[in-house]
Amino acid sequence: MHTTKAGATMSYNDLLQQITSKIKGKVALSFSYQAEDVVVLHLLLQCGVKSLEVFTLDTGKHFPQSEEFHKEVEEFFGITIKRYLPNQNSVKSLEKKLGLWGMRDSLENRHLCCHIRKVEPLKRALKNKSAWVTGLRASQSVTRSDLKIVEFDENFSLFKINPIAFWSEKQTFDYIKEYNLPLNSLYHQGFKSIGCAPCTRAVGKDDDVRSGRWWWEEPEHKECGLHIKEKA
Ligand code: ADX
Ligand code: SF4
Repeated sequence: MHTTKAGATMSYNDLLQQITSKIKGKVALSFSYQAEDVVVLHLLLQCGVKSLEVFTLDTGKHFPQSEEFHKEVEEFFGITIKRYLPNQNSVKSLEKKLGLWGMRDSLENRHLCCHIRKVEPLKRALKNKSAWVTGLRASQSVTRSDLKIVEFDENFSLFKINPIAFWSEKQTFDYIKEYNLPLNSLYHQGFKSIGCAPCTRAVGKDDDVRSGRWWWEEPEHKECGLHIKEKA
């Protein structure tokens, strides 16, 4: 249940239905093979959203387990997850400059890699869309503490909807269990958050949820640029 500012409660399906019914054009869900995205996909399909595109930013660096999961999710929900790829010339010069692991050498290198493999393709993915739905949660990180369920994204000039902005990690996994939804097998191998293979690793049971992402960086730097508020 969601509690509104006026103190009333409503189900997440009703809330999402209310929000998406006001969106006139195409709605895009960015899907990154994480539990949160599966929950949001299920919520969106439940509330009968019209004109939905589910897409992934195919960085070319995803884990094989995530690639397997891509197929599993398509089959489970009867959908197609569209892939947006980075510009191949940019990738070639990036690889020449950074080699296989150069993204770990400096924040500048890492941002360059994220920009080419994720941010630029995201611009193409969101072109001609009216709303962008994500699986972001405020409690994931210090960088996400001011997250809202609906906000206007000045960067991409569209509505950004974060349906589970105020859910906990436990709520997310309870929902997966309750509806018997598919889960990326990496979660059974100690991963708490899932991104590209060179920049993500398994963590301990009590470690912070994003401690395995860009583990060599400080928490305030752990964003790849998709969800940064200034102009991309
Ligand atoms: S990131 O900025 O650190 O990479 P995170 O992995 O927490 O983001 O995911 C937050 C949300 O961003 C996901 O729920 C998803 O909507 C979107 N997202 C992140 N990475 C991708 C990706 N490769 N493809 C599509 N969406 C993504
Ligand atoms: Fe490159 Fe790592 Fe960013 Fe993926 S997460 S785009 S491999 S720097």
